[in-house]
Order: sequence, then C-alpha cells, then structure tokens
Amino acid sequence: MRLSGIHDAKRMLDVGGGSGAFSIAFAKTCPELRAEILDLGAVVPLAEEYIREAGLQNRVRVRPGDMRTADFGEGFDLVLLSAVCHMFGEDENRSLIQRCARALVPGGHLVIREFILQEDRAGPPHAALFALNMLVGTEHGNTYTEGEYRNWMEEADLGTITRPDPEGDVIVASKSD
Ligand SMILES: C[S@@+](CC[C@H](N)C(=O)[O-])C[C@H]1O[C@@H](n2cnc3c(N)ncnc32)[C@H](O)[C@@H]1O
Repeated sequence: MRLSGIHDAKRMLDVGGGSGAFSIAFAKTCPELRAEILDLGAVVPLAEEYIREAGLQNRVRVRPGDMRTADFGEGFDLVLLSAVCHMFGEDENRSLIQRCARALVPGGHLVIREFILQEDRAGPPHAALFALNMLVGTEHGNTYTEGEYRNWMEEADLGTITRPDPEGDVIVASKSD
C-alpha cells in the first residue's frame, strides 16, 4: 500500500513504538526519514538493540516516556499510533490523538493502525474478541469503530480522514495547511 504524503515523510514519531519494527521498516523504505520512538523506559534497550542490528542508529532513536503525559514535541510530518489505542479508554484516546495532532506540522499525517470494529460492534471476529481481551486484561482498554476514530480525529482538527482499505486496520488523517 502506498499512501501519498507518507512515503516522503522526513520526521516520524512512533508513539508506543515498542521494538521499533515499524520505525525501522519506514526508515529502510524512506532513506531521508528520521524516526523517534517513544516508549516506556524498560522497552528502550530492546528497541535500541534492533535499531543497532538494522544499522539505523543515525536515523532512528528511542526516547523513554509515558505517552499519557509526555511532551511529544513538534515538527513531525508523520505520527504513528500502531496497536496503541486499544490499551486506553475513550478520554485517554481523545487526549492522545489531540497531542499527536499538535506534534504534526501543517500537512503532516497521523496514521492509526488497530483492530477496527464495525459500527454495530458485532465484528469482525478478531476485533470483537480483542475487545473482550482488553475488557478482562486492562482497566479501560477496548477496540473502537472507524466512526469513533473519525470523531476523535475531527475533534483534534484533523481532516481528510481515510481508511485506504475499507476492511483494513489503518486510518490516516492529515493536519490542514
Ligand atoms: C501492543 S505494543 C505496540 C508496539 C508497536 N507500536 C507495534 O505496533 O508493533 C504497545 C506498546 O505501547 C507501549 N506502552 C504501553 N503503555 C505505554 C505508555 N503509557 N507510554 C509509552 N508507551 C507505552 C508498550 O511498551 C508497547 O511497546
């Protein structure tokens, strides 16, 4: 999948980027991209090891922090929330998406990758089952519908919201110029 405006990104923030799998893949695909991973302190050494193995220490770095409170900084033309929003409740996601939007430059993109529920919340099965998993294992976690993500993105003043594959797990929004 090629998403316009994303392949030419120069600065990426990977919120809850974990092992760095996505930042590393993006950096390999986009030679001019510099990526910053924000994750909990305990995860930093692991991500750094993968980044070193990929030989990308000059372009991918990791910063410890709690995404619920951390200052994300600014000037990013791509912010990624991959497999993150399901950990949180509605208010936390609203706040998270607003802070991601503030970190973007005008014209920048927020990419959310998640299991996405259909609007009646009855499926698809993997997303509905994952909601159950979050109900049992977390305080406020859940899976959400495309409509909910759209509302949170719109509330954060993001526009041009698209789901490139209508049944896929990616939603993209952009910050107006
Ligand atoms: C399901 S993993 C997703 C990892 C990666 N984004 C991916 O898609 O492969 C969620 C990540 O969020 C991180 N995380 C959880 N709570 C966090 C918090 N409060 N602040 C920062 N990172 C957090 C975890 O350490 C983990 O790396």
